[in-house]
Parts: sequence; C-alpha cells; structure tokens
Amino acid sequence: MKNVSIFGLGYVGLSTAVCFSIKNINVIGYDVDKSKIEKLSMGIPTIYEEGLEELLKVSIKNEKIKFTSDPKEAIAKSDITFITVGTPSKEDKSIDLSYVESAATQIGEALREKKSWHLIVVKSTVLPGTTEGLVLKTIERVSGKKCGTDFGICMNPEFLKEGSAIKDTLNPERIIIGEYDKKSGDYLEEFFRQFYDNILPPILRTSPINAELIKYANNAFLAMKISFINMIANLCQVLPKADVEDIARGIGYDKRVGSLFLKAGIGWGGSCFPKDLAALRSFSRSLNLDLPLLDATMIVNEYQPINAINLVERKLGNLKDKVIAVLGLAFKAGTDDIRESVAIKLVEELIRKGAKVKVYDPVAMKNASMKLGNKVYYAEDSLDCIKNADCAIVATEWEEFKRITAKQFKELMKRPLVFDGRRIYNSKEYKNEIEFLAVGLGSEELEIPKVRMETFLNPALAVNAIVAKKEKILLVKRRNEPFSGFWSLPGGFVEYGETVEEAVKREVKEETGLIVELEKLVGVYSERNRHPGRHVVAVCYSTKIKESKISIDLEENEEAKFFNYRELPKNLAFDHNKMIYDYLKLSEL
Ligand code: UGA
Repeated sequence: MKNVSIFGLGYVGLSTAVCFSIKNINVIGYDVDKSKIEKLSMGIPTIYEEGLEELLKVSIKNEKIKFTSDPKEAIAKSDITFITVGTPSKEDKSIDLSYVESAATQIGEALREKKSWHLIVVKSTVLPGTTEGLVLKTIERVSGKKCGTDFGICMNPEFLKEGSAIKDTLNPERIIIGEYDKKSGDYLEEFFRQFYDNILPPILRTSPINAELIKYANNAFLAMKISFINMIANLCQVLPKADVEDIARGIGYDKRVGSLFLKAGIGWGGSCFPKDLAALRSFSRSLNLDLPLLDATMIVNEYQPINAINLVERKLGNLKDKVIAVLGLAFKAGTDDIRESVAIKLVEELIRKGAKVKVYDPVAMKNASMKLGNKVYYAEDSLDCIKNADCAIVATEWEEFKRITAKQFKELMKRPLVFDGRRIYNSKEYKNEIEFLAVGLGSEELEIPKVRMETFLNPALAVNAIVAKKEKILLVKRRNEPFSGFWSLPGGFVEYGETVEEAVKREVKEETGLIVELEKLVGVYSERNRHPGRHVVAVCYSTKIKESKISIDLEENEEAKFFNYRELPKNLAFDHNKMIYDYLKLSEL
C-alpha cells in the first residue's frame, strides 16, 4: 500500500487519516496548528465523532498514524498527499481559498526536494477550476516542477457527514476521481481499489472541474430537497389535519424522489450546506449567471426559524420575559458542531425578542457558550431545561430528547407548550396531553397569517404590485449576500455602517431636502440580471410625505428610471440579521 500524508486535520482530514490508518496504511497528518498536533499525537481527538477516539488510539499504538508540524517531513514520508484544509466563507460569502493556497505552497516547497513522482489529491471543497488553476499552478511555480511528469494531481471530493464520518468514509456510495491525466487517475484508483478491496463502490473517473462541480451540485441538491419539504411543511401548517411527515413518506416511496433528506425541520445548517451554497451562488454571480433554485433554497431556509418563532408567538403573544427552553444547539444530532446551527440562530432571535432563554445540548454546550456567552441559562440536563418554561422548542433531534414524555412536559413546565422543530414526537400522543405544535403539522386553531409574504423572482412583478398599492402584500426578495444598494424615494445606496432606514432618510433628504418619517416598509425586492455583475436590492417605504416621488415614478412605470444607480462601493457590509429584522418588522405590520 502507498503511504499517505494528509494536509489539514479538520473534520474531513482527521476522519480520513484515521480511517486509512486503521486499514494498515501508513498515514502522516500535518496541520499548521501545533496544539492540534500535540493533542492528536497523544491520542486526543480535536473533534467529536463517535468511535474516532478509540480508532485513533489503536492506530497510534500500532504506529500506523503519526502527526507532524513539518510539511516537508509529511511529503518526504508519503507517496500521496490529500489536501483537506478548510475552505470557509469570507465576509461577503465568497469562498476563502487562502488555506488551500498555503497548503499548495508548502507542498510545492517540499516537492522541490523530492526526487520521486508524487500524487496530490485535492479533497477540500473548492470552486470549479481551482485544482487545475490555483493548486496546480502554485505547486508548479513553487516547486519548479512540472505537473504530468514530476507529479500528478487529482480532485477527489468528500461526501462524509458529520456524526457518521467514520462509517461514511469506510462505506462510501461512490468515489469521484477528477484526474489531471491518466497516470494520476490510475494511481489514485489503484490506491482506492486496495483500500476498499471487496467493498469497492462505483468509481467515476472524470475531469477535475467536473469533480469540483459534483461536490457543489450534490450539496446544493440535498439542501434544495430539505428546503422543498420545509416549504411543503409551511403549507401544511395552515391546513387543518395536514401533516408533512405523511407527505414525505408518501412521496419518498417514489424512487425518483427518494425518502432520504425529506425530514422537515427548522432548517439546515452546519459547516457545509450554508457555505457551499453561498460560494456556488457567489461564483455563478461572478459569471453573470443567476441560479434561481439556489436562491429559493436559501430563502426558505432563512425563514424556517422565524416561522417557528411566529407559531410560538401566536400562542404566547409577546415573548418579552417569557421563559423559552431550547432543546439542542448542535446543527444536528451526533455532533458538537454549532457552525451555522439554526438552533443558535433561533436562540439569538428569541433573545432579541426579549425572551429568557434556557438551553441544553448533550455535547455542544461548550461550543455554544463561546457564542452565546451569558445571555442564556445553561441547563444541567434536558429536564432542568424545560423546568418552569412557558414553551419548549426542540431544535436538534438528539435521542435523549425523544425520551421526554408528554407527562414530564406537563409536570415540569409552567405552561406545557411544546414546539417540535425536528418532528421527534408522536404528534397524536403528545397532542392529547399537552399544547403541541410541530413543523409541518396542521392545526385547526392556527389562523392564517394576516400578512402575506411573496417572493418575486421577477422584479417587474414586484414593482407592479407596489404600483397596485396592495400594501398588505410584502414584497420580499432577500439574499444573504453583500447588500449592494437600494431604491427608495428617490434612490441611492446604503453607506457602510448605516442601517437601511437611515440610508433611505439620508437619500431622501439629500435629493429632495425633505425630512421624512418612514412609516411602513412596503416592499423589498432585488434584481440582478438586467445589469450583469451588479445586484440591486430595492426597498420601498411609504412615508408621511404625501406627495412622495415614489408613486409618480412607479406609475410612470418606466423601470429604467429605477436603475440609474451608481457603482456600489466595494466595502459594503451586509448585516444578515438586519434583513431578518426587517422582515420581522414587515410581518408585524
Ligand atoms: C453534508 C452532506 O450531507 C455530506 O454529504 C457532505 O459531505 C457534507 O455536507 C460536506 O460537504 O462536507 P453535514 O453537513 O455533515 O453533511 O450534515 P447533513 O447530515 O447533511 O445535515 C445538514 C443539515 O441539514 C443539518 O442541519 C440537518 O439537521 C439538516 N437536515 C438534514 C434536515 O433538516 N432534514 C433532513 O432530512 C436532513
């Protein structure tokens, strides 16, 4: 078997390294973080993953795995190097490839001193073109060697899930090999053939760019599937006797649909879906291409936690000083990871609304406390969490929450109102005992929201709706990307550090000399393709100034007039929470 080095010991890197080593491959793990190397060398895993610690200890004892802070040693002692460094989001949601670049630089430096042919495999999720662009070119430049003759390169995306990383790595559904040349592809295929032996999954050999795209398309599709069922769940919620669980089961039997990833909930989070969808969208935008299904997928997801809170509010009224128990903080069960966790967003929104929040998670308390600080009460266990609460919200589907009985909710809570945000309880049973709400569960008592939210993919429709002065219609087209500008009366841009309202008032004053009170946000919409490369978010306010220009302009219906905007400043920051806040204000109209 070939010897392997792994650059970057995060989730994917460490799981891969340990799985290789327990199957008798000599593995050397490298990471820039020295404290990580020290811990791992002592057999202490730096992430929580079931079974990982035992396997790590066995491999260390058998001298099959070793960790180093020296990239040259890692390259010298291996035949294949997997790049598994993180590819986080930048502030503007585009992808940060700096870790990939520095790994490529270190590999290049080490290769300069290496005589034999070496294979580099990019496993990190990277934008289409990165493997044969940034990675290959950096290695060639730094090493002075030539790809194809001195070293080979492949892109091999990873599909493991947190919480089942070991199982997923040892039993993948497929292996994608994006090869620079045949020699590189053959070499990697041979390695996997030996590794997986008699449980070899299908192998797809393709180009690096396709391999990169397969990873993004895969995650985008899964996120879309979840948003789809969440959208249906929202419909079910306003229909008496409807239940999304049965609908998911019903459509899941259709093999073309498939039953997996159809669990309605408070939304998807984690270190992958949000980051990858945002990166893919930002990348496509840079090519002047809109991917509307991606937008819709993200809009539904942003709305999910707010939707949960709205339902609770309808029962409890104003949440100020209400005690809300949030069960679960990790982005899903089986992990202590809280990155982009919807549970955390939910907690933050509850705090913003003045609720007293009690939280509990079996493993993610430490990570959550770094984020939530002293703004919440950290419960001892799940029962302590629900004690004396006005409402309990299930935000993560941990097994131990499933064991809380309706009777316990009834006995321990001040008001036994439960919102099952992950559908872990038998609704019929719990409904008999307590006030029970759940994602996608129709309820006779719930009234249809007074305010309708409409999402317009076509801004012209939004403009028409405003013109028609259907003021009860909310025109919302939000995107969690840099907020590039707005149209108000008469129109302008949000300056850095300014709120949307402040900007509207400032612009109105600058252009008309009038000081206006903003009464009501009538509409928000965004528009893109008309002016490639730019993105306009429009907000329309009604004001106390009767003769505002907005109606005149809109009635003339010359859209061109609405888009004579200036180039947007590059440093514009987008306050994502602010937009949700705006939406909330709309929903309170
Ligand atoms: C995801 C993919 O599933 C992996 O295939 C991929 O390798 C990984 O991203 C990655 O790119 O590295 P992961 O983020 O670990 O894996 O978690 P998932 O199990 O996919 O769950 C993501 C989110 O979707 C969670 O918040 C979960 O609660 C939610 N979810 C999932 C649902 O709301 N409903 C479902 O039916 C499934």
